[in-house]
Amino acid sequence: MVKFGSGIAVKHENFKTCDQAGFCKRNRAYADAAGVTGWEAPFRIAADTLNWQNGQLQGTILKTIKEGETVRLPVTISFLESGSARVVIDEEKRQKGEIELRHNSIARKERYNEAESWAIVGGLDISKTAKENREEKTSTITYGSENQFEAVVTFAPFAIDFKRDGATQIKLNDRGLLNLEHWRPKIEKVEPEKKEGEETPPTEVEVPTGEDESTWWDEPFGGQTDSKPKGPESVSLDITFPGYEHVFGIPEHAGPLSLKETRGGTGNHEDPYRLYNADVFEYIMDSPMTLYGSIPFMQAHKKDSTVGVFWLNAAETWIDIIKAKEAHNPLSLGIGSKTDTKTHWFSESGLIDVFIFLGPTPKDVTKAYGELTGYSQLPPEFSIAYHQCRWNYNTDEDVKDVDRKMSKHQIPYDVIWLDIEYTDDKQYFTWDPLTFPDPIGMLKQLDESERKLVAIIDPHIKNKEGYHVVDELKKKDLAVHNKDGNIYEGWCWPGSSHWIDCFNPAAIKWWIGLFKYDAFKGSMPNLFIWNDMNEPSVFNGPETTMPKDNLHYQNWEHRDVHNLNGMTFHNATYQAMLERKKGEIRRPFVLTRSFYAGSQRLGAMWTGDNQANWEHLAAGFPMIINQGVAGYPFAGADVGGFFGNPEKDLLTRWYQAGAFYPFFRGHAHIDTRRREPYLAGEPYTGIITQALRLRYALLPAWYTAFHEASVNGTPILRPHYFVYPADEAGFAIDDQFFVGSTGLLAKPVVKEGAESVDIYLPDNEVYYDYFDYKTYSGRGSHSVAAPLEKIPLLMQGGHIIPRKDRPRRSSGLMKWDPYTLVVALDKQGNAEGELYVDDGETFDYESGAYIKRAFGFKDNVLESTNRGTKGKMTSSYIKAMKAVGVERIVIVGAPKSWSTKAVVKIGKTEARLEYHPESGGKAAWAVIKSPKISIAEDWKIEF
Ligand code: NOJ
Repeated sequence: MVKFGSGIAVKHENFKTCDQAGFCKRNRAYADAAGVTGWEAPFRIAADTLNWQNGQLQGTILKTIKEGETVRLPVTISFLESGSARVVIDEEKRQKGEIELRHNSIARKERYNEAESWAIVGGLDISKTAKENREEKTSTITYGSENQFEAVVTFAPFAIDFKRDGATQIKLNDRGLLNLEHWRPKIEKVEPEKKEGEETPPTEVEVPTGEDESTWWDEPFGGQTDSKPKGPESVSLDITFPGYEHVFGIPEHAGPLSLKETRGGTGNHEDPYRLYNADVFEYIMDSPMTLYGSIPFMQAHKKDSTVGVFWLNAAETWIDIIKAKEAHNPLSLGIGSKTDTKTHWFSESGLIDVFIFLGPTPKDVTKAYGELTGYSQLPPEFSIAYHQCRWNYNTDEDVKDVDRKMSKHQIPYDVIWLDIEYTDDKQYFTWDPLTFPDPIGMLKQLDESERKLVAIIDPHIKNKEGYHVVDELKKKDLAVHNKDGNIYEGWCWPGSSHWIDCFNPAAIKWWIGLFKYDAFKGSMPNLFIWNDMNEPSVFNGPETTMPKDNLHYQNWEHRDVHNLNGMTFHNATYQAMLERKKGEIRRPFVLTRSFYAGSQRLGAMWTGDNQANWEHLAAGFPMIINQGVAGYPFAGADVGGFFGNPEKDLLTRWYQAGAFYPFFRGHAHIDTRRREPYLAGEPYTGIITQALRLRYALLPAWYTAFHEASVNGTPILRPHYFVYPADEAGFAIDDQFFVGSTGLLAKPVVKEGAESVDIYLPDNEVYYDYFDYKTYSGRGSHSVAAPLEKIPLLMQGGHIIPRKDRPRRSSGLMKWDPYTLVVALDKQGNAEGELYVDDGETFDYESGAYIKRAFGFKDNVLESTNRGTKGKMTSSYIKAMKAVGVERIVIVGAPKSWSTKAVVKIGKTEARLEYHPESGGKAAWAVIKSPKISIAEDWKIEF
């Protein structure tokens, strides 16, 4: 596991602790009060309101606020065809608009109910087979494809137990922490006038409830005050995973994959995990502090069982985690203790809207979550190659120079990036006329080697008269408003700015227009986009973001939608990049910093402003792996570290690590020294080049993993628990991982001066060193040598890995290159693998223009079989791809009997076999050169 050092630098005082966030403090206090004996949870279902119809149970929960006085909360529990369940709780008064807002606010009165329209894209079909069985105090619903699931709804206090095959997996409101702060009018405490000679009359106050009201009506922080026109409105629920020791997910935080406890104590966090997208300057390690994006999706895992929950709420959210060890019967010595993970979720506003996934495998859970929020984009192929970025390449000549030097040093790269300085005075969609006089010339040079440019475009629009973009934004009224309904003004890179409101369909439409080639002068098809600062980052705003009482489209408060904001901007840019010229429909590539559940459909994310030190290098993998667990695998960290100047060994190790980031980009702060790979000097430049070439050689395997993620949500970097759900020793491992289904097991070095790493093997299969075929076998830890030039990378026996070995300047130039297949035999002498190929840039694959192959080695026969389904473009694509061959097949772990074999049979022809015997702990291997077979066709090779 990655060890996280304690950090420095973050300006903690800029960000709230739980104690400083009114609703967080209140809900924690509520949890503490609920823990006291005699506590009675005040929420119950009014049984006479219950109605079961078409897979849904609807009714009203009553919240008792004082003797005889209740608040009505409509509840809907839906059982979905997919086997997931959903619980939604609203508040009748707010739903009907029967409330009064303070300060003459024009904000919407309802609890925000549109998160679904942004996050969810499918999977909501209601089950036709779910059945209800009502009893006096409970209602039991049986559901799932084989009726294997059960939800037992208890009426008073309201609670639900979710079971799989009769055993409880998830409990809602087991601890009675369900809370929904109902609407109430503010009762001003006026000091009544005292007439002479009269006694002081009693002040009109609410019956004391013991609640902390100090932050109900307005909330100051950092010199600014949130006007809170709707009063207190938080929602909260406890979710318990009985028998589960590990929980994963809820990115984005810098910390280990297996989430820690949060209510203090040795080794635990003091604060809950926070989700409130923010531009956290120089963030620290091992912290539950919020970062740039949030995905409120959690997986709980125990031996052979994974379940999950998705908390669909876009407001500021905190999650407390405690792990309760329950001692077993002392007579059953040796069993150890059983751990329940108890979580407590609270959001500042909005609905309670929670999805339940009952597994049983991690794959089932990610698949079900992806069915709802969408699977990861199948990105254009160039975007999974290497990206060269810094803040900033200073001129178009500078870009061209770097491009030439990368070629000269034979260092592959696909994309060079421009940060904010390329613009004319931080006005997006313009170029600085002095430094970038000829963007088209620059783009054309890149295009000669099929390279691309990514330029940054942020959501803040410079407030400067005569700048056409801001003029239109104002005229069309497409910006975010302040609480009074006027255009909101704040500070960001350009100085005074306004923010496009991408919740507004008209704003999206306008944004799309800005990217057309004739509108964005100086752009070309090989220009792509980077969306940064979309939390949104507002330099002079509370917690460096927008005031919560700002208003978005249709007057939803920013408070309600904050965590969605980044995704809506990313979405608008994605839409814009789909078709910049009529008919030219291509897959967009848009990088985002801020994200929410669903952002995976739109492009890549990166972990923001890390630092050039070993702790940050080590922190990258747990964070990126966790992104994959949360359905968003197209993730990376700034290679080299954003702030500071990395020593050369750190830079080198970072490239070796980066070669295993799904999104692989070098980036650096404006104040750092230049660090393009060719500047490092030998041996560093050579080693970095090798790491880059390794990535390029394995692009077919990476692309196949991206394809898999795009159809069923499987992570690209797979943690141990995901691949070996029964192997308890692997559950918390987050510094080594499998790449897709390739059987590649990597543990890049992230420690200063390390000369070896200990790799944990989860089974007794044979593992081969990727580079020299040294073998490792036996479950447990193995030391693998890792001098600076070496990336610890093993191939698990039983896999066939597709590669392209010819070094090129860019991935685009590899399109027609032949493949190498590496067959790593398992102990039984078998292996399997997969390859997915398409044109890498259009959507033709949706019409069948792709190749999907299954490779199998069994009984001395290697075979390629078709796994694609036919579409209207299949034949023409396959025909064009027939020319792409396999130039080499390497069989690792080749049997001794082959030492006398000189040829193999391929249909009616033969090919030469070259055998290399086992030596010095290195497996025997054999190679077939030029077998003259196509990647697009069926074939069989007999050994
Ligand atoms: C903040 C981003 O995180 C960083 O990557 C970028 O270089 C700067 N903004 C400047 O645009």
